[in-house]
Amino acid sequence: MNGSSGGCSGPTGNAQTAFDHGLVGRFNAWFFTFFAGYINHAAHAHKTEAFGGIGTGTIVEIGAGTGANLSYLEPGTHLYAVEPNRRMHPRLKRRCRQAGIGLTILPTGAEHIDLPDGSVDVVMCSLVLCTVGMPSQVVAEARRILRAGGTFRFVEHIAAPDGSVRGRAQRMIRRPWGFVFEGCDPHRDTIATVNGAGFAAVQAHRQRFHHSVFWPVNTAAWGIAVR
Ligand SMILES: C[S@@+](CC[C@H](N)C(=O)[O-])C[C@H]1O[C@@H](n2cnc3c(N)ncnc32)[C@H](O)[C@@H]1O
Repeated sequence: MNGSSGGCSGPTGNAQTAFDHGLVGRFNAWFFTFFAGYINHAAHAHKTEAFGGIGTGTIVEIGAGTGANLSYLEPGTHLYAVEPNRRMHPRLKRRCRQAGIGLTILPTGAEHIDLPDGSVDVVMCSLVLCTVGMPSQVVAEARRILRAGGTFRFVEHIAAPDGSVRGRAQRMIRRPWGFVFEGCDPHRDTIATVNGAGFAAVQAHRQRFHHSVFWPVNTAAWGIAVR
């Protein structure tokens, strides 16, 4: 495993896939810390269903960012955070320390996760499958590292129906939105991606975020897939 572990220590680095977008990365680290409470409020119903009762065990979060989902983990848990964006790491480490959660950062893209087959109880993510370069490959990796019966839990904004005003807007803003939010595509069919990954069972629910001001990405889904 090529990460860093123990308490909330930092990454040893995998220069090939870790990235640092400078100012834009700093903005995103600030944004997802500053708005974490607001986003968690808007996504409260989704996260409660998807992340509630995770319990203990070996837990991996893909694109953990600055730790928006730590409140869904029990103190004393050890989290493997697959997070290639170096700008997220300092805040993630600080918030893990404050929450009493042990942390190993795997500073690579989740297209290749440096953990053995069938070694993990839970893989979770929020607002990540919109951003990763190869969502099908990332979900396949999540499935690969899960033990039989382990769960992949996700909360994601997804494509609005084609032909709807929001769907058209999502397509129109793709480029500037992707630039500001480091590759985020507001118009992805993430449920189809999870359904196509070969899990034994998938429970997925489309549900808008509650009163969110981020109108273009209000169409959302949560789900639990079982390996
Ligand atoms: C929109 S942010 C969401 C952060 C956090 N999950 C949250 O809900 O606040 C997307 C996150 O995915 C990470 N990310 C981008 N590409 C990735 C990849 N290939 N594999 C894993 N994470 C990635 C980004 O660095 C960022 O932390």
